Amino acid sequence: MMMKKSEIISRIHELRKRRGAVILAHNYELGEIQDIADFQGDSLELSIRAAETDAAEIVFCGVRFMAETAKILSPEKRVILPAPQAGCEMADMADAESLRALKARHPGALTVCYVNSTAAVKAECDMCVTSANAVRIIQSLPRDREIIFAPDRNLGSHCAAQAGRELILWDGCCPVHARMTPEMMLRRRAEYPGVPILMHPEAPPEVAQMADELLSTGGILRFVRESEEKKFIIATEIGILHRLQVENPDKVFIPLTEQAICPHMKLIRLEDLLRALETGETEVTVPEELRKAAEKPIRAMLNA
Ligand code: 13P
Ligand code: SF4
Repeated sequence: MMMKKSEIISRIHELRKRRGAVILAHNYELGEIQDIADFQGDSLELSIRAAETDAAEIVFCGVRFMAETAKILSPEKRVILPAPQAGCEMADMADAESLRALKARHPGALTVCYVNSTAAVKAECDMCVTSANAVRIIQSLPRDREIIFAPDRNLGSHCAAQAGRELILWDGCCPVHARMTPEMMLRRRAEYPGVPILMHPEAPPEVAQMADELLSTGGILRFVRESEEKKFIIATEIGILHRLQVENPDKVFIPLTEQAICPHMKLIRLEDLLRALETGETEVTVPEELRKAAEKPIRAMLNA
């Protein structure tokens, strides 16, 4: 028999308590998941939560690289990803073997990975970044070293421009943000003159240069909270509109495009979260040697 939504919610509350679980949700998750989570956030905020929580178990409502990062930082905890098939197309564009080959062609280069990468790719890197800290961290790296940046060529171009230095860019991107075009920007500008466009730096450079602000999802939420403006055009995955609207009921949010949907971020429904709490599945594991190697660049980022 189908359970009512209210029954599912109260069962989730009961089980999370019994298991001593903390529920983390990324800002792109479905609204019903964001609403029930203990913490919502961007990749950096969720990594920090995962590293600092004293809960016995972390139920990660996001995609695999995020749950993997939580496991890498908190190996003694059980980390559960309620939708085991939730991946990241950008993370899958970089593999450790090809990265090793690129490093071999640039001996002496520092290797920086965007957190949207596999544990095996992280294990090859000196430093990890998220969209919230990438520019600051790239700016802080020694200027006499070459820098390889993988896998997002768009975030990498943004960092290179901001830091005023050349980066050796991996040719990866997020297909959701890659769909954003200058024409979409012109249309929205014409429809909403003077309304700020807040964009994620995963967007292609020719589109990103037309935005007013390039921010992580957490940065977009903060910017809106602190702004006097009442209307905003939001140029990232549309899952973020839910939290923007909940936090700012008197403000208006217009997506740059309704098509900016990451299918992986839409896989976890309340029913899946409940099943995960009932069965403890699916647990995310990272072999210890790989975990230790991947932990180094993530810790370097958290300490930077
Ligand atoms: P944030 O770290 O800004 O939340 O971005 C994560 C992501 O996957 C963007 O596509
Ligand atoms: Fe990966 Fe793009 Fe989805 Fe973010 S929005 S998880 S980068 S595919």
